[in-house]
Amino acid sequence: MFDTKAYDKPSFEQYGSRNDVEFKFFETKLTEDTADLAKGCDAVCVFVNDTVSDKVIDRLYENGVKMIALRCAGYNNVDVEHAYGKLHVVHVPAYSPYAVAEHAAALLLTSVRRIHKAYNRTREFNFSLSGLTGFDLHGKTVGVVGTGKIGRIFIDICRGFGMKVIAYDAYPAKDSGIEYVTLDELFEKSDIISLHCPLTDDTRHMINADAIEKMKKGVVILNTSRGALIDTEALLEGIKARKVGAACLDVYEEEADIFFEDRSGHILNDELLSRLISMPNVIVTSHQAFLTEEALNNIAETTVNNIRSFFDKEGICDNELCYRCGNIEHCKKERKERCF
Ligand code: NAI
Repeated sequence: MFDTKAYDKPSFEQYGSRNDVEFKFFETKLTEDTADLAKGCDAVCVFVNDTVSDKVIDRLYENGVKMIALRCAGYNNVDVEHAYGKLHVVHVPAYSPYAVAEHAAALLLTSVRRIHKAYNRTREFNFSLSGLTGFDLHGKTVGVVGTGKIGRIFIDICRGFGMKVIAYDAYPAKDSGIEYVTLDELFEKSDIISLHCPLTDDTRHMINADAIEKMKKGVVILNTSRGALIDTEALLEGIKARKVGAACLDVYEEEADIFFEDRSGHILNDELLSRLISMPNVIVTSHQAFLTEEALNNIAETTVNNIRSFFDKEGICDNELCYRCGNIEHCKKERKERCF
């Protein structure tokens, strides 16, 4: 298991030992230089910032590895096409949509009620309320982009606060009782906008200067999905122009070399992120929305099941990413046999 963090180990050790899967934990990320560590292993378990390129795949294959077990949903860091015929690729399609939706709600409340400011103040015995005025969520309009598993839970949470919900999805859910609008309409009408769609060629930089231009003054933008949904420079300009009232970001488009590590003793070589973090109305968390005990247990359980079912039951695993027909996600749902 590469890129192992302290919080990964307990659940993987627990589910592994219960199911006769022995893990070797490495803190280093999987790269061309570290691929040989997997020699003698049947599978490698990787996360979002491990590199599973063509060269790494060839090296793993030469070393006798048979499977890449992603302990996350996204697989944009894996050359699935190159792996075809060599290594089987499995992933964890869902682990806790509640974790992510609840984190989005936590960020929203923190931001609009200035909890992050109040927390720092009272720690220094500063009990002044000046500058802490928030606004009621009740009666505000929230625009939700992407009404899949996470988006719908976030919608339920918002309804609990008495907010009016409008939504945009490229594939609207039928009979869901959700009021769908066009993306432009959502930009124009929302007091709060929350992103819950995947990162694709269509959605990259969906929040750009044009989109921000259409939004209400003071709009609050939440992103717990993928960093590159937002053009960060345009967001910063929107904040500086006082058009965007607040931004809550659990993801950042250049996060790969920054997030998940303690960089507190170092100079941060990212002007955009530094500038954003310095803003009083911006809250950044480092891709932690998934990080609950429930989610970690589900990730470990599903990963161990993926590995076990592949090596036990004639190699059929429901969560295999099948490259055979090129239609990775769809094929996965239809398939009754191995990808190759
Ligand atoms: P999902 O697949 O259940 O829902 C995604 C929704 O987006 C679907 O309804 C789909 O129709 C819609 N969609 C697809 N293309 C679209 C487009 N062009 N415009 C608008 N909507 C579009 O996925 P789920 O589980 O709800 O996850 C949503 C996203 O949350 C993931 O793609 C991932 O990027 C992010 N995520 C973030 C985590 C974190 O720790 N911050 C953890 C897990 C997921």
